[in-house]
Formats: sequence, C-alpha cells, structure tokens
Amino acid sequence: MLRRCIFLLFLFVFAACDSGNSPDIDPPDDDRGYHALRQLSPFPVGAAVQAAQVQNPDFSDVFNYAFNSLTAEYQMKQNVIWTSRNTYNWAPADALVQYGQDHEMQVHGHALLWHSSTPLWLENFVGSDETFEALLLDYIFTTVQRYQGKVISWDVVNEAFNDGSGTLRETVFRNRLGPDYLARMFDYARQADPDVLLFYNDYNLESDATKRRAVLAMVDDFQARGIPIDGIGLQMHVSYNSPSLKDIKDTMQAFASRGLKIHLSELDIRANPGGDLTSLTELRALEQRARTFDIVDAFLDLPAANRFAITWWGLRDPDSWLIGFWGNPEWPLLFDADYAPKPAYFGFVEALEGAS
Ligand code: G3I
Repeated sequence: MLRRCIFLLFLFVFAACDSGNSPDIDPPDDDRGYHALRQLSPFPVGAAVQAAQVQNPDFSDVFNYAFNSLTAEYQMKQNVIWTSRNTYNWAPADALVQYGQDHEMQVHGHALLWHSSTPLWLENFVGSDETFEALLLDYIFTTVQRYQGKVISWDVVNEAFNDGSGTLRETVFRNRLGPDYLARMFDYARQADPDVLLFYNDYNLESDATKRRAVLAMVDDFQARGIPIDGIGLQMHVSYNSPSLKDIKDTMQAFASRGLKIHLSELDIRANPGGDLTSLTELRALEQRARTFDIVDAFLDLPAANRFAITWWGLRDPDSWLIGFWGNPEWPLLFDADYAPKPAYFGFVEALEGAS
C-alpha cells in the first residue's frame, strides 16, 4: 500500500511539472525511449491482433518490440475457420500462428467454442444431438491437432455462464448436449493433445460474484472428477475506476488457489466509461496509468507458476472493439493512434521494475 501511495504521489506531482514526456525511472536501453515489456516481464505479455494488422510494418514494428504473446482477435474462432461442414478456412489462423513462431511469441488459441462465433450452418444443424456432438469432437481434434506444438493453450469454452445468475447460458451447445457439455469439450481437447494448456475464459468474473462463484464451482467439480483444466482466462474488460482492486486481487487468488494458471486474457482499461470525455485528459491518462500499475502489481503477487500471461485486447487505442461496442470515444490500450506508448505503458513498466 505504501508503494502505491508513493507511486500515486509521484504521478500527480510529476503531472504538475511534467514536460509532456514520460521518462522511465532509469534511461531505456534502446533508442525508442521506452523499454520492451517482453524484456522486462517475468511472464508473457501479449496483444490480440488480426492477420492484416501484423502485415502493416508500423504495427508489427511496435508489436514485435513490446510483446511476446499473440492471441487472434477473431480469426481462430469457429465461424471464421469452419465455414461449412466439410470446409475449413485456415489461412488467417495459419498466418497468425506462423507470425507468432517467426517472432518468438507464444500463441494462445481463442476460442474453440463460443456461442457468439458459432457458424450459422452449425447453429442451425438439424441432425441428431449425437451427430452434433460428433461434429464438435471432430472440430476440436482437427483444430487442436493442426496447431499441436505451435499453439500452447486454448480457450476451450468462452463465456458459458450468464451474468448475474451464474446459470449456464442457453446456447446451442447447452441445449443440445446438456449442462455437462463443458466437461466433455475439455476432455476432447485433452484427448486431442496431451500437452496443450486448456483454459476456460469469461468476463466480469472480477466484478460479478455470483458468476465467479459459478465458475469456481465448475472448476472444483472438474478437479473432483478429473476433468482436465489448466487455467482461467479473466478477460478483464475493466475501467480506470472499477471494479475494486480488492475484487480483482481476490478473483485472481481464488482461481490460483485451485492451482490454475491465470491469464488476464483480454485486458483493456476504459478511460471514458461515463462518456464524459471527448479527448483523453492528462489526469485521466495518469489515472489509467495508476490502474495499470495496480493490475500488473497484483498479478505479480501471484506465485510464478500461476502467472500465465497478460494479454491486451488490441495494440492501439483506435484498434479497440470498445469504441464500436459502447459508441463513446475511448482510449483503453497501451499505445496511442501514432503507436506511441501512453502513460499506461509506463505504469506497466514501473510495476515490472518494482518487481525486479
Ligand atoms: O476484418 C473484417 C473486414 O475485412 C470485413 O469487411 C468486416 C465485415 O465482414 O469484418 C471484419 O472482421 C470483423 C472483426 O471483428 C474485425 O473488425 C469480424 O466480422 C467481427 O466478427 C470481429 O468481431 C470480433 C468479435 O470478438 C467477434 O469475433 C472483435 O474484433 C473482437 O474484439 C471480439 O472479441 C471478443 C472476444 O473474442 C471474447 N470476449 C469479448 C470480446 C469483445 O466482444
């Protein structure tokens, strides 16, 4: 707590006389003027990207420098890959997996099953439930084994629980295969690859206690039955001022106490949740920086064995899905529109330097 108070005091005093640059505590060892997160961090640091983005030299220059983990923002999802029962569109996924290998980045697979990325032909499949399940098993084997040894982890199921009630969503998977479908999907993924890390991924687990309890109960049930699960993806679509740091810490600890690897899998920090800003003010940027420091500092408090990765859901502010989703101006990521690191980036660096 003392470290945080000193850090905040430093920030606000610094803002009063800052020349407009955000110097590191010690001079960066490169000509960019900022350290590479991938060099400083004891755990992988990633971003969600798209195949076209990494073909842009301006984008890839910064992405390759700062990050060593890659998640496909949408091109490794079922509706992009499995375009009809016997047709697979592997090209974008192959390109991103190859990119990760070419740039010494771990690749996280997102996501085998998600009700929002189920291809329409599968959603409307009229065959038997048994055939439906056999199709899913075949998809999981085909996809996981295609990237065996290249994709180190998969979100097996994404967002299966309802907000607020913690009940299972009435998805086509649950409706056709019954409430125990998640266990079977994890089992299939394990059968497909004995070494790949298997994650369950969801949002608001740090702010919705009922939903969190439901997911923890699933983990406990899996572990009691020997159903394989290696990690939890806490998406962490949070704001500069909520949820509480205590709730974030308690959530990480609750899943880590079960031996799971923790992936902050889709981190973005809304600077404008109330829609009150038309531009990112210096004060709000500093608050976002303090928030970034706090989240990384909390993640560093986990045992090393439980720290899978921190993945930002995009590289630059303009790349963020939040802008279209909420319709507000928003600046939730580490880099600005000109690929320059924001104060939030330096909050990440300072948390890492405090740990070193
Ligand atoms: O790039 C193509 C463009 O060429 C094409 O003209 C256009 C219209 O078809 O589509 C564009 O691709 C879109 C892509 O976003 C890039 O903008 C896809 O249609 C669209 O489906 C995709 O949406 C993604 C969404 O998941 C659904 O897959 C978002 O990028 C992505 O940020 C969002 O991420 C989800 C996580 O997977 C799960 N957690 C919530 C998170 C936010 O919804």
